Amino acid sequence: MNVGAHWVPGSKILLYFLGSEGGSEVLAQVLFLFRSFLVLVRFVGVMAILAWNVRGLGNKDTNRALRKSIQKFQPDIIFLSETKQKKGFLEKVKTKMKMAHSFYVEPCRITGGLACGIPRGLALWWSNDTQITVLRSGKHFIDAEISIKGESEWFGSFIYGPPYKEEKREFWEMMTQMRDASEECWLVIGDTNVVASQEEKLGGIPFNLNDARVYFDFIDGKGLIELPISSGSFTWLNQRSEEEAILEKLDRALCSVEWSVRFPKAVGLLDVAIGSAHAPVIIYPYGLSKKYKRDFKFESKWLLEEECKSTV
Ligand SMILES: *[C@@H]1O[C@H](CO)[C@@H](O)[C@H](O)[C@H]1NC(C)=O
Repeated sequence: MNVGAHWVPGSKILLYFLGSEGGSEVLAQVLFLFRSFLVLVRFVGVMAILAWNVRGLGNKDTNRALRKSIQKFQPDIIFLSETKQKKGFLEKVKTKMKMAHSFYVEPCRITGGLACGIPRGLALWWSNDTQITVLRSGKHFIDAEISIKGESEWFGSFIYGPPYKEEKREFWEMMTQMRDASEECWLVIGDTNVVASQEEKLGGIPFNLNDARVYFDFIDGKGLIELPISSGSFTWLNQRSEEEAILEKLDRALCSVEWSVRFPKAVGLLDVAIGSAHAPVIIYPYGLSKKYKRDFKFESKWLLEEECKSTV
């Protein structure tokens, strides 16, 4: 007897199924039904935001992984950091991914000469249902006013925290100046490049509180809350051999109290890290709709009955 399991994307549900001979056929059927079902989910008001440090959007693996993530999670907003690509190239990818609008911070080697350091680059894409007004941007962030599907506006900062110590202070101090979080509905999402505790690190040199101090000054000073991510503890791995492997949590979403009151059911998920050392982070501000859960129950029950019939 085969025992199979399939992770239902964008939910906490792990579907188990049993089969005798035709195990893989059953799997194919299940996957097909779920694919149709996920298309349906698009229309029941589930919204998603995807943030991913792609480490260069040039290679096939990364592009394929991005396309798969988009198919799975159907994000309304996509934020990519370390694109290492010019606008022209990114616009072509955007069109392929069926996103309607964009904003870019181009890698600085292209625009600013050697003085600005290593080329990185940020991209923000959004769907036709989403309204975004970019308020300001820089090498390490895009700050915007957002409204998805006609809801009232909130602020979103899409960040790529500097990896180097000298720039860290400047960046987190700038973020602290950005707005008064006690009154604003604000979501901060992206690669913070900060490990915030020993639990967020496996391997390598031990966690050092001093390295995270400027980051804590920011989140404590603003009273920000970290959104829980349900499908994994680490978002980055150094892709070395087993003995030298280091895993860290660098990518995350933080929100103001106001934002968490408005989106009390917000949940975060991680996709698999393929084509980059970082895993994509997906945030569902409204959680998963009741209808989604109800349909899922119905569908799995129906599947089971069908399967029973055919076995008989
Ligand atoms: C977005 O809307 C415009 C205007 O209705 C339309 O021309 C365009 O094709 C849409 N883009 C996508 C990616 O759906």
